[in-house]
Amino acid sequence: MPVSTEAWFLYGRKAGEPRAARLVRETFTLPDPADDEVQVEPLYGSFEGNMGHALERKPVDICRLRGEARVVIGNSGVFRIVALGKTVRGLHEGQYGMVTGVAVPDAWGYPEKIYAYDGAGTMGLLTKRANIKQACVVLIPEQTRHTLRQWAVFSLRYVTAWSNWEAAHGMFRLLVGADELPSPHVWGWGGGTTLAELSLAARWGCRVVMLSGSVHHRETIRRHGVEPLDRKQFGPLPFDDKRFSEDREYRQQYSEAEQRFLEEVKRRTDGLMTQIFVDYIGGPLYRATLKALGREGVLTSAGWMEGMVVNYLRAVECIGRHQHVHTHYARRQQCEAAVAYGEEHGWMPILEDRTYTFDDIPQLADEFLAGKTDVFPVYSINEGNEGNEGNEGNEGNEGPGVPP
Ligand SMILES: NC(=O)c1ccc[n+]([C@@H]2O[C@H](COP(=O)([O-])OP(=O)(O)OC[C@H]3O[C@@H](n4cnc5c(N)ncnc54)[C@H](OP(=O)(O)O)[C@@H]3O)[C@@H](O)[C@H]2O)c1
Repeated sequence: MPVSTEAWFLYGRKAGEPRAARLVRETFTLPDPADDEVQVEPLYGSFEGNMGHALERKPVDICRLRGEARVVIGNSGVFRIVALGKTVRGLHEGQYGMVTGVAVPDAWGYPEKIYAYDGAGTMGLLTKRANIKQACVVLIPEQTRHTLRQWAVFSLRYVTAWSNWEAAHGMFRLLVGADELPSPHVWGWGGGTTLAELSLAARWGCRVVMLSGSVHHRETIRRHGVEPLDRKQFGPLPFDDKRFSEDREYRQQYSEAEQRFLEEVKRRTDGLMTQIFVDYIGGPLYRATLKALGREGVLTSAGWMEGMVVNYLRAVECIGRHQHVHTHYARRQQCEAAVAYGEEHGWMPILEDRTYTFDDIPQLADEFLAGKTDVFPVYSINEGNEGNEGNEGNEGNEGPGVPP
């Protein structure tokens, strides 16, 4: 039976409207799940970078891209299955799951389009009920030791981090063996996906540093076993090519900031510089990031938060044997491997107590875009319907695990 339910909708931008969108809460009728879909009751979600981009319509208006008047975003979260389509096999009502971000896979299962972002027709979790293709469901381990709130964060950022780390670390190890350099220096700029990745790198025996401009974030970073470093102490690191060539004062300020930053990298790495740099920011930070790479260094990314276009000198990169790794979310096998590792080894986000409610979503969106939330902000969707809340007492991180 179709059900009447409610969601926070994102509408496409109309002429004359501001660039950034406001979510609109509306009721709608959800049809029965199609044959290959399950109907789910979303429980917890985590606000993250893609949702921010969708709201800011930067770099694209996803409604226009998808050719839809309105969409429901929210691709990081957990749900309970409440009904099955006719051809669904291997799942049953009452199971807890999370979405894979793979809305449209390529021939090898890697995502071409992302669920609840640019994947047309996909419905995210900012809704009390949704229909999801079975192919997009990954189950949370039964009797999990971790909480649903933790899995809500894990589902996007940790899975992305797993896939990106696998490629970046594998690439570095093609060049320099563990017998030659057992503990590479791995650094990264701010954001939840980077924190997930650096906390994984620490478990692989790497020496990890994360730059952040927020005192609050730096506390969270430290709690995850990653050394925090205030990026603002160096001065303005975002690089503006035009100003650099036209504005003498800016040129001097930037050059001094970059030099201070590189000296600190050199000091903390005993002159080796970084072997892997995790950069989801891109654009204006690219210049300083590249310079912070040591020989055989890997610049690794799945994000372009501050800019998609980058410039580099191929000769310098070739001679330095620098490798540039690019990934986009993960394929199903990687998602399942990340879940299994996270469950067994406690590679999990350490969360603050605060959970935003479904009513708080506009406030959460504003705070997230203003950089005022914790690194891993969590919201609840169907308050009180959680059932199995996992082991709340175990909402920690269990120290170094064993790399596979
Ligand atoms: N392709 C994929 O599969 C994929 C998956 C996940 C994320 N992403 C993308 O990766 C990016 C990061 O996402 P996220 O969710 O991990 O991050 P996030 O939680 O949204 O955090 C972004 C953080 O970046 C830092 N930052 C922002 N501007 C900066 C600047 N100019 N210089 C230095 N640091 C800056 C800030 O950290 P501090 O305030 O602590 O400095 C900010 O909190 C987003 O663009 C997202 O869309 C892509």
